[in-house]
Amino acid sequence: MGIIELSNINKYYYMGENALHVLKDVSLTVEKGDYLAILGPSGSGKSTLMNIIGCMDVSDGGEYYLDGESVHNAKEEELTRIRNEKIGFIFQKYHLIPTYNVLQNIVMPLLMRGLTLKEAHEHSMEIIHMLGLSDRIEHKPSELSGGQQQRVAIARALVGEPAILLADEPTGALDKNSGIEVLKLFQRLNDMGNTIVMITHDLGVAEHAKRIVKIVDGELTIQEK
Ligand SMILES: Nc1ncnc2c1ncn2[C@@H]1O[C@H](COP(=O)(O)OP(=O)(O)OP(=O)(O)O)[C@@H](O)[C@H]1O
Ligand SMILES: [Mg+2]
Repeated sequence: MGIIELSNINKYYYMGENALHVLKDVSLTVEKGDYLAILGPSGSGKSTLMNIIGCMDVSDGGEYYLDGESVHNAKEEELTRIRNEKIGFIFQKYHLIPTYNVLQNIVMPLLMRGLTLKEAHEHSMEIIHMLGLSDRIEHKPSELSGGQQQRVAIARALVGEPAILLADEPTGALDKNSGIEVLKLFQRLNDMGNTIVMITHDLGVAEHAKRIVKIVDGELTIQEK
């Protein structure tokens, strides 16, 4: 069984009497250690699919197993736990907490698991070092470049050793060089064994992954690279 197993996932958005069918019988297997890009144009359903994979939203029918746990019939509290334990999120716009410094942002997922600040700090030193953020830990996000902010977001995503890293347009807000840095980092993380799912509308970005699946109008087409 793959680390992600989606079968026949459907999603509708209801607006008045009209239902918009946004995901149509989506089935997808992602193995541990894979690096997958989900490529599709604007409005094709990428973020909707990411929200479901990331346990931030539930599907209307279909089955979803994440790291062996059934998600499709999980209750809200369970989804929150699965999210915290299994998924490291990376967003286009970083989503850092502006009033927290770099260290406080990075250790957040560990504090949510009940570690003390001291334990969380110790636990995250290696990742902070690996991402070259050691001399920035007391800075606020507003005092960092876009590329640095995204590295903080990646450190926060990694610190809890999630089963998968889930990234929605991770280079979308970055200049070319910072974007290349982030993609190099993803490559390194994947070489180290991390499973990555990256969502993008940009073929040039998707081509950095091991495998690409396309989504058009809510339908997924699997293709090998
Ligand atoms: N909460 C919502 N209510 C109603 N319709 C929605 C909602 N969220 C998304 N949609 C619609 O669902 C479709 C898919 O949206 P989604 O955000 O998944 O696309 P996307 O592929 O991520 O696009 P983009 O590349 O622009 O981010 C679109 O037609 C969108 O208008
Ligand atoms: Mg989107």
